[in-house]
Amino acid sequence: MKAAVYYENGEPGVLRYEDVADPVCHPKGVVIRVEAVSIEGGDTLNRWRGALRTHPHIVGYQAAGEIIVVGAEVDGLRVGQKVATVGADGSHAELRAVAAASAWPIPDGFDVAKASAIPVTFGTADDCLFEFGRLKAGETVLVQAGASGVGVAAIQLAERAGARVLATASSDERLERLKAIGLDDGINYLREPVSQAVMRLTDNKGVDLVVDSVGGSTLQGSILSLGYRGRVSMVGAAGREPMNVDVSTLMGGNRSLSGVFLGAEIGTPRVRANIQRLIDEAARGELTVIIDKSFPLSRAAEAHAYIESRQAVGRVVMVP
Ligand SMILES: NC(=O)c1ccc[n+]([C@@H]2O[C@H](COP(=O)([O-])OP(=O)(O)OC[C@H]3O[C@@H](n4cnc5c(N)ncnc54)[C@H](OP(=O)(O)O)[C@@H]3O)[C@@H](O)[C@H]2O)c1
Repeated sequence: MKAAVYYENGEPGVLRYEDVADPVCHPKGVVIRVEAVSIEGGDTLNRWRGALRTHPHIVGYQAAGEIIVVGAEVDGLRVGQKVATVGADGSHAELRAVAAASAWPIPDGFDVAKASAIPVTFGTADDCLFEFGRLKAGETVLVQAGASGVGVAAIQLAERAGARVLATASSDERLERLKAIGLDDGINYLREPVSQAVMRLTDNKGVDLVVDSVGGSTLQGSILSLGYRGRVSMVGAAGREPMNVDVSTLMGGNRSLSGVFLGAEIGTPRVRANIQRLIDEAARGELTVIIDKSFPLSRAAEAHAYIESRQAVGRVVMVP
């Protein structure tokens, strides 16, 4: 099969389009013919400095397509079925082997590219807001990097739950596009420090919950944006900075900082059912999956570079 591979970490230019061996189906797994690769923030980070589990390495968490092989010990999935899949790596390829427990059926007629972008982004955003963030109707949420994959999901889910939604981005144009999916107030952090803008927009009360997938100095701004009993769901490191944060302001206001990692619970019945629910809701038009741009898999380096240019809103996908 063809795949986008790399032999060393680095900038998008390390990605090459090459022939590699086809993946082998595990007895408890499936192999899909990939129809869409959703490029995750974690994929660009892994390409930059993640471990190379294979040589050459095929990066990538999320891809969707048609099942072509079903493992002998798998019930409930069949050849010809369309599924959205998540794995530790291997999405940037024509074929992909994953555990059957990490393959979610796509409802008939739902766009496979949109389905490819749901499990990690919406599953993570949902956990950040509800399972770990304990969001309630009437509260105010700040979504850092609102135009990101996780951000676009978090804005919609928070709005739908009856929260007021603030979000940050590095451009006014991207913030403007987020209004259509439920953003109430955008903060361009290149023009005003985030915590200052939050206090201005909340009559100095601060927010009840922050979803922070950026980390580093941004995480400090998240902590400083909290109101009394405010919570931060810390879920990523897109900013590529060290996490040297000062947590001293948490205690006085009964505030908290929680780490969230979907991967730790993705194999549980709770998360499996949650992701299927989110896919079904998107298929019914109750959630919006934004595909910003599509590239052929052969142009993976260009697709990664486009993401890192920080122009995208939502997801960039690739088609083998
Ligand atoms: N823990 C988990 O379970 C979990 C699950 C999913 C994702 N994640 C993590 O969450 C993070 C975001 O993932 P994603 O898929 O939402 O990412 P994404 O769609 O690629 O978006 C990343 C966003 O981060 C912002 N950003 C800030 N500093 C940046 C920098 N130095 N370089 C690039 N972007 C920067 C950009 O927005 P602005 O330009 O507007 O600032 C960009 O839109 C990643 O670190 C990922 O690994 C964790």
